Amino acid sequence: MNSKMKLPILYSQRSHQTRDLAISFLMQQGVENPNCISLAAGLVDPMTLPVGDALQAASRVLETEESGRLALQYGTTQGSAELREELLKHFASLEGSDVASLGIDETQLIATTGSQQLLSLVCETLFDPGDICLVAGPTYFVFAGNLAGVDARTVTIAADDDGMQPAALDHALEQIAAMQELHRVKLIYVVSYYDNPSGVCVSTERRKEIVDIAKKWSRDHRILVLEDAAYRELQYDGPVHSSLWSFDDSRDQVIYTQTFSKTFSPGIRVGFGVLPSDLVGPICDRKGNEDFGSANFNQHLIAETLRSGVYKTHLQKVRAGYQEKRDAMLAAADRYFSDIDGVTWVTPHGGLYVWMSLPESIATGFESPLFKQAVKNGVMYVPGELCYAGPAEDRPSHQMRLSYGVQTPDGINKGMERLAEAVKSVVR
Ligand SMILES: Cc1ncc(COP(=O)(O)O)c(C=O)c1O
Repeated sequence: MNSKMKLPILYSQRSHQTRDLAISFLMQQGVENPNCISLAAGLVDPMTLPVGDALQAASRVLETEESGRLALQYGTTQGSAELREELLKHFASLEGSDVASLGIDETQLIATTGSQQLLSLVCETLFDPGDICLVAGPTYFVFAGNLAGVDARTVTIAADDDGMQPAALDHALEQIAAMQELHRVKLIYVVSYYDNPSGVCVSTERRKEIVDIAKKWSRDHRILVLEDAAYRELQYDGPVHSSLWSFDDSRDQVIYTQTFSKTFSPGIRVGFGVLPSDLVGPICDRKGNEDFGSANFNQHLIAETLRSGVYKTHLQKVRAGYQEKRDAMLAAADRYFSDIDGVTWVTPHGGLYVWMSLPESIATGFESPLFKQAVKNGVMYVPGELCYAGPAEDRPSHQMRLSYGVQTPDGINKGMERLAEAVKSVVR
């Protein structure tokens, strides 16, 4: 044998279950087309990143030998007690409650490496191959990848401008029960505020209904609801909604997760979860296997920004900036798309995305004439079909996720103009 020949690596079955790398493709397109305006990237606005605030918080954390050493040491798997205490207060204020009335304490909070880690830990802790998760269509595509990674089956539930449809959820569970498969249903996943990708917020009535349906079908085991509230604090207008979690009086049915990535800094990678008490141990055991605790220093940094009020002040600035960009994208949608037949879009009251639907005959995927024309025109978007779980042939393919996070209002306007030209060229 040629001594230079590489022997193959024998990968695990699980490693083959990772979904195709759509994000890598989009990034490559961005590199190959440097003048392209990306309405695809879901990154936060670089101009909002709180360099001064982070420096100030880091200085405070390192101000004394004692506080500095505490932050620079290993922490605990569940997360810093100081941070979890601040998180509990923060969560209570979002719920319009005080800590004492929440019905939980900090032992049910976990600090994670972004909220993404909690999504992944929940999948690994709950799913055996073939177990079932119900998700909205469309849904957060990275979570669909997490589910594929543990070989879970997904059942897509129709959603509209008020989010996942409870009647469709109930019906799906009824069908699953009729097929004697209810024991395989572990989780209902809901992005409850300004969904990625659809921008919609689940209405208050539906929040309660979804929790009630999870309870109703929890016969021999609990069907948990995973409430992903990643965009909760990026609200610009519209009604204020209580969480799905708040409709679960038992505090046992809903896993709640949130992040500081969108509102403060994704580089700090701090997210958190509120867990049913009996899930804390299994999730921490799993997390312990991975990292025995998220970056302790970063947790102290976030605790300091919450404690000092710096977070609140920063959030106001971030919201104002994104609201301007959201308005720029909606104005451009009106300006350039309203004369194209069959084009509709969702008006988001928060978050980072506008979800646009084209006539069903117009495909938006990477291989479609539209995507190629868009790149030629100098603009990129996320094809909607990437944002559905389940087999490719069952996914709608005429939608687009448009992000306004990164571009300036001028860039958004220009990008939307280029995209409309591309759409018009394939509609004709
Ligand atoms: C709906 C949703 N959930 C979770 C995440 C994970 O974010 P992070 O790990 O940075 O907290 C994202 C990131 O884009 C998201 O859009």
